[in-house]
Order: sequence, then structure tokens, then C-alpha cells
Amino acid sequence: MLDGWLVIFTGPKLIDELRRSPDEELSADEGVAEVLQLRLTLGPGVDDQFHVAVVRDKLTRNLTALYPDVFDEISVSFNEYIPASDDWTEVRIWPIVQKVIARASNRVIIGLPRCRDETYLDVAINFTNDVFASSFLINLFPGFLKPLIGKAVPMVSKNKKKLMPMVIPMLQERQRMMEAHGDDWEGHPRDLLQWLLEEARAKGTPFEHVVEKVLLVNFGAIHTSSGAFTHALYNVAAYPQYIQPLREEIEAVVAQDGWSKASLGKMRKLDSFFKETMRLADGSLLNIFRKAVKDVTLSDGTRIPKGTLVAAASVTAHTDDTRYPEPDVFDPFRFARMREGGVEDAVKHQLVNTSVDFLPFGHGKHACPGRFFAANEIKTMMAYLLLNYDVKFAEEGKRPANIRFGPANLPSTSAKVLFRKRRRDEETNSASRS
Ligand code: HEM
Repeated sequence: MLDGWLVIFTGPKLIDELRRSPDEELSADEGVAEVLQLRLTLGPGVDDQFHVAVVRDKLTRNLTALYPDVFDEISVSFNEYIPASDDWTEVRIWPIVQKVIARASNRVIIGLPRCRDETYLDVAINFTNDVFASSFLINLFPGFLKPLIGKAVPMVSKNKKKLMPMVIPMLQERQRMMEAHGDDWEGHPRDLLQWLLEEARAKGTPFEHVVEKVLLVNFGAIHTSSGAFTHALYNVAAYPQYIQPLREEIEAVVAQDGWSKASLGKMRKLDSFFKETMRLADGSLLNIFRKAVKDVTLSDGTRIPKGTLVAAASVTAHTDDTRYPEPDVFDPFRFARMREGGVEDAVKHQLVNTSVDFLPFGHGKHACPGRFFAANEIKTMMAYLLLNYDVKFAEEGKRPANIRFGPANLPSTSAKVLFRKRRRDEETNSASRS
């Protein structure tokens, strides 16, 4: 790179070594700090990552209880943004997906009505772009100039300034209620903001840092999930032969059990469709970024000097033919079949399970803590769309090219998908013809 080496780990043995390496040698925090430069743009408060444990523990433990809200936000926003008309309507899908994900995620981050507030949503969505743009700029300069450049680029701190007057009064009001009626007051909100507030009060953390955590959770949640969902939607539109088996599975489960987190767990074809999509179109061709905070020697003798950035090559892991037969073929129900081998396989090959062969969520101690939420969200979005709309591309079988920038591998942000209200009569006719 411009100012140093990036050492890329390939192969299961070395990727596993990267996963196991302690933060005192290959540090996750220092890796992220170097790539994103948030210390310089958001402030030193970013070093206290208490939001990670809140997402990992509180959010994940409450997924079942929160599910009706997430489903509600997804259905209400799709109904609002995609017309269910009898004729095909062409829709540029990327901004809509970002909006639906921002609303559904913020329904559990900050709750109603703020999760539908346009100004708030703009900040939540654009913050990520601003982080990448400013870190790109800062990283063009040598180390001693970086702090100066960090001060001179206002994009990231501007977002914090916009969010403070929206979020701080909410925190103050909630604090007032906690002081008056105790932490578990009747009707207290069950959302991420509340859990962040409880942590912050226990640690004496200023509210300003809670606002930063709201931004950081949005950073972790929106672009990643939007990318994964859009890649999968393009696969649905490009390969219509998979729509019917997906619909049959979703309909059978919903008819028996309704919409719930447990129902999603039974939709193995849908789970597999996303896992196969992410295997071939991971949002980043490199994952598990770390920085050597001391000289490190690997088991194969490679010496990594202190200060070097390292990462794992997910693209080679995901297309290794000793792990995945016919690795370049998009075989959407591959993982559903792999799960048929028994209880161990059923767990091992589900979307949220990370391994040296499946790295979109990272792997090891720092693997994405929000992946259980993300999987529920994107699966619900797809299930809802497939049950309520017909979906296709103007030209069948042609997926729009991905956008490649550095290690990023994003779905097209300009592609249009055609939608219309689902026509069950045509499905019945084509089923009886075949
Ligand atoms: C499909 C969606 C998502 C993908 C592909 C994804 C991917 C990732 C990856 C690759 C990492 C870094 C792992 C590592 O360094 O080893 C990560 C970390 C993180 N993600 Fe996600 N993520 C997704 C959704 C979410 C959501 C919805 C949330 C929050 C609700 C979230 C919160 C976080 C946080 C807080 C971290 C930092 C973890 C740490 O530093 O230990 N992510 N994610």
C-alpha cells in the first residue's frame, strides 16, 4: 500500500492461525483504527468498544422478543417504497434496500418514531460513506501528518453533531425515568439505546460517547446487510428457477408457524441461498484485518514486523475446490444439502456459522456480533418480498456487474429490478404445465 505492507493470509491453516492470534500480537482494535482512522475523526472515545458486548449479548438474547417489531418495520417500509401494482414497475433497488435496512435496524437500535425520521436516517446511512471517504484521504498522508488531516476533514464529526440534538434529549429523558422509577420502570424501552445507556451509566461514560456508539452500530449494520441482501436479490432476479422452491419453503413454514425468529430457523433453503450468495459475493475480498503490535513469527516461519497490517483472503477460501466442489458455480441450495448430514452439519453449515472456509462475518473472537440479527433481518426481507411480489430483471439470466474498489466488492448501486404484485394464477398455470 502507499505507506506500508499489507500481508495477506491464505489457506485454512494460516487463516486459523490469524483467528487464534491474541490481540496482544495481532490486534483487531489497532487494525480497525488504522483502516478507518476513527480515533482521528470521531475522537478517542472509540477505544471503549462497549457497544460490541451490548450487540453480542443483549441484542442477540432479545432477538425473539424483538422480531415482531423488525417484521413490522420491514413490511411497512417495503409497502411504502415498492408499489404492488398489477403491471411491472422498474425500481432502482439499492437506495430502497438501504432505507429498509436502516429503518428495520434502527427500530431495534433507537425505536419508533426516530427510526422513521428522514434526517436521522440520512445520518445513519451516510455516516459509513463519510468514514470511508475521510479514512481514504487520511491514509494518503504519512503518519506524522495524519492527525492534522483528521482535524481538517469534517465529514465524520459533522454526523455526530447532527445526531447529538436528536439522541441526547432521549437519553436525558430515559435517565430521568430511571432515576424516578428504577431501571425497570413500567413500559421502559427495550432497544439498543436503552442497553447502551445502562452500560454508560454504570461506567460513568458521557452521553456524547453513547451517540458515537449509535453511529458505530449503524456503521456495522447498514452497508454490510444492504450489500448482502442486494447481492442475493440480484441472484433471485437473475435466476428465476429458484423462486418457486423458495416460496414453497417459506409458505409452508409461515402457514404452520407464522412469522417468528423460530420460523426463519426452519427456512433452510433461504438460509442456504444467502450463504451461497455471500460465499461468491462477499462484501470484501479481504477480512479479519489486524495490526501487528509486536514482531510476530508465524508457524511457517514468516516474520511479520511490528506495525504491519494483515488480513485474510476470503475470496480464495470461498473458492477452494477441496472445500467446495465446483466452487465457481452458484448452487444456492448447496448448504441446505450439506446440513442434511446430521445435527453437527446442520449447525456447521448455517449462515451465521463462521469458519476458515466462510469468512464474510470474520471468524474467531471478533467475528461479527450482529450477524444473528443481520441474518434474521435479510431473510425476513427476502421472504416478505417473495411472498408478496414477482421479481425479475428486464433481461433474464444477467446479473449486473459488481463494483470493485480496493478489497470492497459491492453490488451495483444503479441496477434496476422489476416488481409487480405477485400473480398466483400464473404460478399455478406454469406448475400444471410442467
Ligand atoms: C450481512 C451483514 C453483516 C456483515 C457481512 C458483517 C460483517 C462483519 C465483519 C467482517 C466484521 C469484522 C470481523 C473481524 O474483524 O474479525 C464485523 C464486525 C462487527 N459487526 Fe458486523 N456485519 C454485518 C452486520 C452487522 C450488524 C447488523 C451489526 C449490528 C447490529 C453489526 C455489528 C458489528 C460490530 C459491532 C462489529 C465489531 C466487532 C468487534 O470489534 O469485535 N454487524 N462485521
